[in-house]
Amino acid sequence: MSKNDIKQQIGNYAAKLVQNHTTVGLGTGTTVSYFLVALAQRIKKEHLDIVGVTTSEKTTLSAKELGIRIVDIDDTDGIDLTIDGADEVDTYLNGIKGGGAALLMEKIVAKNSKENVWIVDESKVHNILGSFPLPVEVVPFGSGRLYREFALKGLNPRYRVDNLGRRIVTDAQHYIIDLVLDVINNPYELAQYLESRVGVVEHGLFLGIANRVIVGNDDGIEVLER
Ligand code: A5P
Repeated sequence: MSKNDIKQQIGNYAAKLVQNHTTVGLGTGTTVSYFLVALAQRIKKEHLDIVGVTTSEKTTLSAKELGIRIVDIDDTDGIDLTIDGADEVDTYLNGIKGGGAALLMEKIVAKNSKENVWIVDESKVHNILGSFPLPVEVVPFGSGRLYREFALKGLNPRYRVDNLGRRIVTDAQHYIIDLVLDVINNPYELAQYLESRVGVVEHGLFLGIANRVIVGNDDGIEVLER
């Protein structure tokens, strides 16, 4: 099966998890884009009353194009279920997110969601996190100082740039510094350190957030649960 076929399969599976009369957090990424299409089809076919809360401008555009009703996060009574992708997941269902630069809104939506389900292909599941560079969203002002501090601490920072070498700017007008670590032995300690730095807006360690991870592979779907 091609990677896209696997994502399609995961997207279809995830769309079936959504219940009628609920508010759904809509994640960001290529796997989520398959989920959005499958969800929009279900909404039309089954005349479902479902509203979405999005995690990026990109997802807002896609959802609107597909005819999924969108509501502002501040105008909901709560998000019932969020379906999102992830860049890496460990066996405790901790993860790294932000490869699509949407980590800030993704974390806000996730933290306000009663249930969080991630959809990934099996190449993203590892025993220890770190093979995916850890995104850190920072305020541009003074970010060079943070960058140097990260470098001195051995965290191997890299500003995320576009293909013209310009620093990318997130939906909330921040920079991303990726930490190229290979192995994160203590994600909770690293999260605490990052949260204590002035100028760090958010980091891509999503710890204790996912309730379930839907893993797709050539043979079908495997569900990891906490
Ligand atoms: C966006 O910032 C990320 O957290 C995505 O959820 C993640 O990059 C997964 O994307 P793919 O499904 O495209 O791999």
